Amino acid sequence: MTSNLIAIPHSLDSTDRQAHYGHVGAVLWLTGLSASGKSSLAMALEQALVARGYSCYVLDGDNVRRGLNADLGFSPQERTENIRRVGEMAALFADAGLICITALISPYRADRERARQSCAQAFYEIHIAADLATCEERDPKGLYKKARAGLVAEFTGVSAPYEPPLQADYVVDTGREPFVQSLEKLLAYVITQLPLTLRSLP
Ligand code: ADX
Repeated sequence: MTSNLIAIPHSLDSTDRQAHYGHVGAVLWLTGLSASGKSSLAMALEQALVARGYSCYVLDGDNVRRGLNADLGFSPQERTENIRRVGEMAALFADAGLICITALISPYRADRERARQSCAQAFYEIHIAADLATCEERDPKGLYKKARAGLVAEFTGVSAPYEPPLQADYVVDTGREPFVQSLEKLLAYVITQLPLTLRSLP
C-alpha cells in the first residue's frame, strides 16, 4: 500500500525543534487497567509540565475513541488498530517536538512494542499499576459492575486480558500510594529523563 509513495523531507530537524521548544520530543506511554488512574495522572502531568515550560499534549483513549477512532470497538483486532493509530499519532507529536502523553489501556504487549518501534524519538512505557481489585472497587464509571453483570462485553480485567509490561521504563503504584505522591514521583522522573534545554528566542 505504501508503494509509489516517497517520504518528503522536512526543512526542520529535531535539533531545530528542540531549540524551539527547549526540550526534546518524546512519548510518555501510560498503560494500565481501566480506573487505574491513567487519565487523571496524564492530565495532571501535562498541566505540571506546561507550568514548568514544557510543551505537551495528552491523547486519551476515551477522547480519541470519540473522534478519530469512533469506528473502533473493543475486540482484540480493534484494540490493536486503536493502539496502532494512536501510536502513529503520538510518534508524529514527538516528531513535531512535543511531549505526547498517552492514556490508553493498551492491553497487549505486542501493540505497545509496535508503538515504541514506530517512534523515532524518546519513548517511555509507564505502567500505571493498580491491581484489579482496587480498580474494580473504585469503578468511577460503573463499567466493572456492568461487565460483571454481563452488560459490557470483552471488558479488560473481567472478560478480556491485560498483559502488564515485563520491563516498564517506570512503574507508578497508583494502587497503594496517594494520587499526589504518584504525580510527584512521575513528574520528577520525567523531568530527570527530559530536562529543559536552552531555548533559542525568536
Ligand atoms: S484500549 O484497550 O483500546 O487501549 P482505550 O484505552 O482506548 O482501550 O479505551 C478504554 C476506555 O473505554 C475505558 O476507560 C472505558 O471507559 C471504555 N470502555 C468501554 N468498553 C470497554 C471494554 N470492553 N474494555 C475496556 N474499556 C472499555
